[in-house]
Amino acid sequence: MKVIAVCHQKGGVGKSTIAQAVAVGSPKKSRIFDADAQGTSGKFVTQRITDGRNNPDLASGRIENLRLLVEQAEKDGVEWFVIDTPPEQATEVNLRAALSVADFAILPTKASANDVEVLPKTINVVRQLDVPFGIVINEFDGRRSLHKQVSNDLKELVANNGGHFFAPLRNLAVHQEATFARECAIEYAPSSNGAREMTLLVRELVGLLKGI
Ligand SMILES: Nc1ncnc2c1ncn2[C@@H]1O[C@H](COP(=O)(O)OP(=O)(O)O)[C@@H](O)[C@H]1O
Ligand SMILES: [Mg+2]
Repeated sequence: MKVIAVCHQKGGVGKSTIAQAVAVGSPKKSRIFDADAQGTSGKFVTQRITDGRNNPDLASGRIENLRLLVEQAEKDGVEWFVIDTPPEQATEVNLRAALSVADFAILPTKASANDVEVLPKTINVVRQLDVPFGIVINEFDGRRSLHKQVSNDLKELVANNGGHFFAPLRNLAVHQEATFARECAIEYAPSSNGAREMTLLVRELVGLLKGI
């Protein structure tokens, strides 16, 4: 089993969207643990279960018991245990708890100054805990020079910190439409660009996890 934490101490950068897509798009049985009190991913999975969908399922319990939840998931035959983390800037308690059980961290960010500024803080924690990681620029627009600049800067940051640089995700309405239908883009509109990009992210992740 592999434990994947999706983290960035800023809100609204796509953590929940990506955590859900990774769990839904995972090649095998997956389980989500929602470490965010807002409960976005918890509700997403609970509603899907009500709708009769059983993958991913939900790890329910307190973050203090995360190690036990991970052990239980392993016993249950879960292959990918995905942790959606909260935006925390004043404290890093939940982030550290998630990373201390993680095999890999996905760090989504938008290409805006406010979001990118906070990223080194999260990378520091990831590196302190020695977790392999990758950055993905979300809501990327390759026509904008600012985005291209940020992309180059982040590639350099990743190169200097031993991380992976995922293919970016564009700002596509299908991700929001899919969430309304309690689905991810991969299920909601399989031939959409959003589905293609998320599938690529999952494939990259499969490749990275093989080496861990
Ligand atoms: N690539 C994208 N294209 C369009 N909308 C997106 C994309 N990624 C995320 N969103 C939307 O942005 C909002 C914030 O995303 P979310 O995943 O909840 O961020 P976080 O968990 O980091 O706070 C949500 O409404 C989500 O549907
Ligand atoms: Mg979230």
